[in-house]
Amino acid sequence: MTPAICCPRCHDAIPATPPAERPCPRCGLVLRGSPVGVSYEQARLLQAAFPARFRLYRALCNNGFVSYHELAAGSVSLPGREDVAEFGRFLSHHAGNGEWLLDVGCGPLPVPGYLEPLRGRGLRFLGLDIYPTSFDGFRITGCAEFLPLADRSIDVVVFGTSLDHVCDLTQTLQEMSRILRRGGRCCIWMGDRRPYWREFFFPDAPATVVVRRIFGGFPKRVLRNVLNGHRPFYGILHHFRHGRYWEYENGSTFYCPPGAIDPFHMYFERPAEVIRLAKRFGFAATATERASNGVFLGLTRS
Ligand SMILES: C[S@@+](CC[C@H](N)C(=O)[O-])C[C@H]1O[C@@H](n2cnc3c(N)ncnc32)[C@H](O)[C@@H]1O
Ligand SMILES: [Zn+2]
Repeated sequence: MTPAICCPRCHDAIPATPPAERPCPRCGLVLRGSPVGVSYEQARLLQAAFPARFRLYRALCNNGFVSYHELAAGSVSLPGREDVAEFGRFLSHHAGNGEWLLDVGCGPLPVPGYLEPLRGRGLRFLGLDIYPTSFDGFRITGCAEFLPLADRSIDVVVFGTSLDHVCDLTQTLQEMSRILRRGGRCCIWMGDRRPYWREFFFPDAPATVVVRRIFGGFPKRVLRNVLNGHRPFYGILHHFRHGRYWEYENGSTFYCPPGAIDPFHMYFERPAEVIRLAKRFGFAATATERASNGVFLGLTRS
């Protein structure tokens, strides 16, 4: 069974899953169909819509793609990880029999670990990523900001540590609002962080914390770096500088481009900020759960 497909640009209905190639009758955008899913040139759509931030976004995505291989344990939801299982338990309260579930930014795995508890429960799965995926379900190679899915055709949308990677947060939430049916849920696993410089100078704590950081934490960190054989300011300068190299424990090195706060993420939004934005598109926050590694957010479409 295939979902109701439409043009990701003008939302005109496309009668069936497109065969090899089908230009949209209204706007000409080409959708390519295959037995397992659809694809379209999402990069061009994003570039045209968000010219100012597109290059930064693509550079961060490319870093993310390399991290699938070099930092797989941290950047992919491998089954067996406790934080991944926790999100799976959260999802199993929000998705049920016969529903259409779209995993946005599903990544490279056939079954991201958090979807495992939902297998065998009669759900119909769709996986979307900007890179081709081996997702076990209907595969969309596209982007969250322009979805080839009909209005109100989906019951549950999942973001497993992917909302902070998109090119445009506002348009992404607007698209989720369009494709979700009334009462549909948007389940998000996200971090609860702010840009490092804000965290350093304006922590959610008394001023004494800042003082302690400068006179206590900072020298201790330098000493630890030296004892570990790192450069003295390893992991410290990234609080302040743009355009730098990030080294990971396994020796993997990623470049953090100017304008980014780390080599991978476009956004460091906090849950309250996402809830505020989502309200503009008809969502209400119906579940917020602090997890061992971030926060799980349940938004319901009115
Ligand atoms: C940290 S990975 C998470 C992958 C997967 N959910 C997991 O946990 O294993 C973030 C994913 O978001 C994808 N992504 C980035 N920009 C996107 C966009 N605009 N629309 C959809 N997915 C996007 C990336 O390609 C990447 O696979
Ligand atoms: Zn069109």
